This record gives sequence, C-alpha cells and structure tokens, in this order.
Amino acid sequence: MPRLLLVHGGHPGGRIARLVAAIQQTVLAEVPEVTLVVRPALAAGIADLLDAQALLCATPEHFGYMSGALKDFFDRTYYPAEGKTQGLPYSLLVSAGTDGTGTCRAVERIARGYGWVEVAAPVIVVGEPDAAGVGRATELAVTLAAGLAVGIY
Ligand SMILES: Cc1cc2nc3c(=O)[nH]c(=O)nc-3n(C[C@H](O)[C@H](O)[C@H](O)COP(=O)(O)O)c2cc1C
Repeated sequence: MPRLLLVHGGHPGGRIARLVAAIQQTVLAEVPEVTLVVRPALAAGIADLLDAQALLCATPEHFGYMSGALKDFFDRTYYPAEGKTQGLPYSLLVSAGTDGTGTCRAVERIARGYGWVEVAAPVIVVGEPDAAGVGRATELAVTLAAGLAVGIY
C-alpha cells in the first residue's frame, strides 16, 4: 500500500497532537487504501522519508518559525535524502496562536531544497482547533492520501 508519512512537532496532548489524532481517524475511515505513518519529528528519520510516497508536515509555529523538532528532522535528513526524494508530493499543517505564515515560508523554502512538490496549499489553524479547523486539517490529509490512492502523484 502507498504510504503517507505524517511528521509532526508540538507538545504532547497539544493542538497538533489533537489534529493528528483526528487525521489518523479520518484517513483510516476515508482512504483505507493508503497507510498513514505517523511519526513525532524527533523520532522520524531518513528511512521513514525514503519509504514514503507523500509527506505531510505538521507543526506549531514557534517564534515565527517551525518547531525545533521539525527543523531537527530536516537537519538530520537533508543530506541523506539528497537526490532521493525529488518530486515527493508534500504539504504542511501549521497550528499557530495568531499567525503561522513565517512557518509556511520557511518550510516551503526548505522543501524546495529537497525538490519536493507542494500538491496542496498549506493549512494554518489559528488558536484552539474548532470543528472547522479540524475539518480543514483532515481535508488536507485526505487530499494527499486520496491523491496517492488514485495515483495522481
Ligand atoms: C515558544 C512558543 C513560541 C510561539 N510563537 C508563536 C509565533 O511566533 N506565532 C504564533 O502565531 N504562535 C506562536 N506560539 C503559539 C503556538 O503556535 C500555538 O499555541 C500552537 O497552537 C501550539 O501548538 P501545540 O499545542 O501543538 O504545541 C508560540 C508558542 C510557544 C510555546
């Protein structure tokens, strides 16, 4: 089965953790043809990345940037992935107190360096995720998973 890798930062039990839980439930129910592999960014490595056919990064915004955990994942995998993940379809989910745009800019720049292709616009959920915020986050994940399932990437 094709694999969608979800690499996430965020505090245990925090907003990203809750969005990730909703994504897991929804993708399992709506796109069972795809395996969603969920990894905390600090535990994710190059093997996870090389095994994936698509990638969803999820992170809180910290000081106008991605979480240190997601940045660490990029720091550890950038050179090992060189030349091996070009064209990987990806997108980004950001949980932010008020903004989130700095994180989007930073991740987009790094993703260009890997040669990844942004196949869905990043989603920023500001504040406590309400039903609409959870819906936007799960829709993003389902878009990536469904694209993999029907082979459009
Ligand atoms: C150290 C720190 C820095 C933060 N910096 C920003 C920021 O620059 N912009 C913003 O919109 N929110 C900022 N926030 C708020 C978080 O992005 C927000 O609370 C997020 O939903 C937390 O996600 P989590 O519960 O998964 O950790 C910051 C929070 C912390 C703890």
